[in-house]
Amino acid sequence: MATPPRLLVVVLLLLATAPALSVAAKLVVGDRKRWAPNVNYTDWADRHEFYVGDWLDFEYEKDRYDVVQVNETAYARCDGSSPILSYSRGHNFPFQLNRTGRFYFICSRGYCWNGMKVSVLVQPAPLPPAMAPSSHASRARAAAGVWRWVGLAALLLLGSLPFRV
Ligand SMILES: *[C@@H]1O[C@H](CO)[C@@H](O)[C@H](O)[C@H]1NC(C)=O
Ligand SMILES: *[C@@H]1O[C@H](CO)[C@@H](O)[C@H](O)[C@H]1NC(C)=O
Ligand SMILES: *[C@@H]1O[C@H](CO)[C@@H](O)[C@H](O)[C@H]1NC(C)=O
Repeated sequence: MATPPRLLVVVLLLLATAPALSVAAKLVVGDRKRWAPNVNYTDWADRHEFYVGDWLDFEYEKDRYDVVQVNETAYARCDGSSPILSYSRGHNFPFQLNRTGRFYFICSRGYCWNGMKVSVLVQPAPLPPAMAPSSHASRARAAAGVWRWVGLAALLLLGSLPFRV
């Protein structure tokens, strides 16, 4: 029976892909306070690290608030009149941080003046462990990155073996 090698590969694949799924973090903006007035989002951003590929999830009261991506100038002025991106439907807005550098978001409905503005600095995606910086969180991410490659290798191996599916 040809089952054992196949089982081995499947187990390897499961082991490898499970951590890979959690590589990109989803960060709820404001944590428990979510996207609302009178929250200090500078404090919130200072407590988190942001990497390319991570998602920001803006969760807000439906029909009351919105999320507008702006540039630095508009952010400083709470000016939502020339948005890069504007979102107001539903009650949550997932946004993927797809590059390094700063992203700026405000609520365009007056509440920016009540603190509904956040800026996050996005760092490059984590490096393999040998080159990784020293913080615990970075290490965990780097490890997850390695597992992603193992997962990919297992997928390729699985594809190249003569299994009957
Ligand atoms: C938010 O908190 C930071 C640091 O605690 C403080 O410097 C800043 O003034 C606060 N911002 C507002 C709008 O209260
Ligand atoms: C921000 O956008 C406004 C309006 O599009 C533009 O006039 C301004 O030069 C931009 N500022 C920066 C720093 O890119
Ligand atoms: C990131 O996403 C935005 C919006 O979808 C897009 O305009 C931009 O080109 C993307 N940037 C990169 C580096 O992929």
